[in-house]
Amino acid sequence: MITARSTPNIALIKYWGNRHEEFRLCAGESTSMTLDGPYVDVSVDYADRFNVSSNTKEMNAESKKRFQKTIELIQAYLATIDNIDLSRISIDIESHIPPSIGLASSAAVFSGLSKAIAGLVEIPLSDEQISVMARLGSGSAARSIFGGYSAIANEENMFIDGSKGWQIADEHHWTLHDIIIVPSTKEKKVGSTEGHANAATSRHFLQRLQDIKEYRQQDCINAILRKDFEKLQRVAEEDCMNMHLCMQTQTPALDYLSDDTYRIITEIKDIRRSEHLPVFYTMDAGPTVHLFCEPEAKDRMLTYAHEQEGCQVFEAQTGKGTYLV
Ligand code: DP6
Repeated sequence: MITARSTPNIALIKYWGNRHEEFRLCAGESTSMTLDGPYVDVSVDYADRFNVSSNTKEMNAESKKRFQKTIELIQAYLATIDNIDLSRISIDIESHIPPSIGLASSAAVFSGLSKAIAGLVEIPLSDEQISVMARLGSGSAARSIFGGYSAIANEENMFIDGSKGWQIADEHHWTLHDIIIVPSTKEKKVGSTEGHANAATSRHFLQRLQDIKEYRQQDCINAILRKDFEKLQRVAEEDCMNMHLCMQTQTPALDYLSDDTYRIITEIKDIRRSEHLPVFYTMDAGPTVHLFCEPEAKDRMLTYAHEQEGCQVFEAQTGKGTYLV
């Protein structure tokens, strides 16, 4: 049995929409920071038949199908390197991520699964190749393979490995904190997979892809490499709100943000201006607000977060990516 430990990542330039649904080839490039927790352990082994179990989730037919499909795609990808039979493996997921709090547990689960499979099959695979395997289960999982800051790059083809993860800088490069404020723990109505499929119906979608290609992705990478917090703040907030604009204008419309989210954004902007603090906000497919900040702003942001009535608060920082345990 091989076990891999993995954590979520939070996007700075968001992945929204696919150019190939089955292969989860991303429409646009993206960047993120990998968190140091909470973690998921994924164990795999050869077995009599395909099986998947989880300590937090009832594995219904639909969830099982997603794992089975992912394994089939991983096998198809690995067939370009070696002939490996993955049809009879057992997958055991031990998650320490509270469900539906706006932390991408699927990113941690599928990056962990891919790293564990890479260990099981005993053929030398690079992190880039493992990121392709992770992406076949969940697009954003391609980034959790790497520690620190990572990105997904697109090639101009529709091959199964046409979108790949890569590391911008490791976890020692720049420590940022993520203070996570969870306004509501209700299950989100429409998951990302379904949302991605309708992204192109938004009239803002093509402009979004163009902006990411022309300047946003590179601005974000440069800001990370130069540890330029102000630049990162500008580009990450711009991209986050632009993704939500696309979500809100696609058919059917997806409005993941709540009144609390908007109130927190306004208050954070005020605090940033009046107290000159290095902090910015970003939200994924839910009302959860991630407050990214430099160490000097961490205590103030934690105090602010704990003042929010009815909200749960979590804390994380730059993490080291997926590894075998
Ligand atoms: C809004 O990776 O969750 O968090 O491939 O269907 O699992 P699937 O989608 P997923 O999409 C992530 C969407 C996002 C933005 C991001 O993390 O880049």
